Amino acid sequence: MLAKTRKRKTKMKTVVITGANRGLGLEFAKQYHADNWNVIACCRDPEAAAELAKAGVLVRKLDLLDFEAIDAFADSLAGNPIDLLINNAAIHDKSKVEGFSGIEAERWIDGFKVNAIAPVLLTKALLENLSAADKPVAATIGSQQGCLTLYENGGVYLYRTSKAAAHSAAVILANDLRSHDIPYVCLRPGHTKTEMGGSDAPYEIEDSVRLMRQVLARVDMANTGRFLDRSGALIPWSMEKDLNE
Ligand SMILES: NC(=O)c1ccc[n+]([C@@H]2O[C@H](COP(=O)([O-])OP(=O)(O)OC[C@H]3O[C@@H](n4cnc5c(N)ncnc54)[C@H](OP(=O)(O)O)[C@@H]3O)[C@@H](O)[C@H]2O)c1
Repeated sequence: MLAKTRKRKTKMKTVVITGANRGLGLEFAKQYHADNWNVIACCRDPEAAAELAKAGVLVRKLDLLDFEAIDAFADSLAGNPIDLLINNAAIHDKSKVEGFSGIEAERWIDGFKVNAIAPVLLTKALLENLSAADKPVAATIGSQQGCLTLYENGGVYLYRTSKAAAHSAAVILANDLRSHDIPYVCLRPGHTKTEMGGSDAPYEIEDSVRLMRQVLARVDMANTGRFLDRSGALIPWSMEKDLNE
């Protein structure tokens, strides 16, 4: 639990990160910690999160398939301002990407829960915490795989459809958060060397996270509802041409 007095004394900013035990989430935790932020790093199994434990951040158990746990997590943070929420965790069932044969309906539903629904529920549950911060920002880590305009082949149903839904949910969420002055954006890390991205990915984790942090630092209400890549450029996420072109 955060010590409110400590926060006031040091004026540390607080970030909540989901899926922080590995990949981009772990790197976000490390970099914000190194930058003197108060890091609340969420993961499914803290006891198995050895590298996160070494990072010196506050580790909290949060399985995003458990929607009641999302509310309980938020309740435990009552009264603590949150400056930044990074909805980073995602399921990409890489073994199930080949065409129709790989479709498993139950797992697909899990993908929607974690990738698209949980970010909305967590943001809603932490609304008072975000509202209590000076210049709060919240974000979903999106993916070009959720951009219909970039689909050139079949397969990858779980990840693509759930990321498209995550983008859609983020735009709706951004609209709901306007009256609270909380910008909500989607960020695209680019293809990065993580368990999900694979070792052949062109981008290093450190660089993708450093660049996304730079974008996050620039986000304000003028950018809310946008999908931005690691350079801050706008990404299209629907079909680009109408029938008359
Ligand atoms: N890497 C890329 O090239 C790339 C490109 C575009 C977008 N992204 C996005 O970037 C974000 C991070 O990806 P990554 O590459 O770092 O992936 P990753 O290494 O596969 O990490 C995924 C994270 O999500 C967590 N997670 C999965 N199911 C969860 C659940 N039910 N509850 C809580 N956490 C759960 C995982 O925890 P466990 O270890 O417990 O499974 C893990 O910490 C994702 O949103 C991804 O879609 C990545």
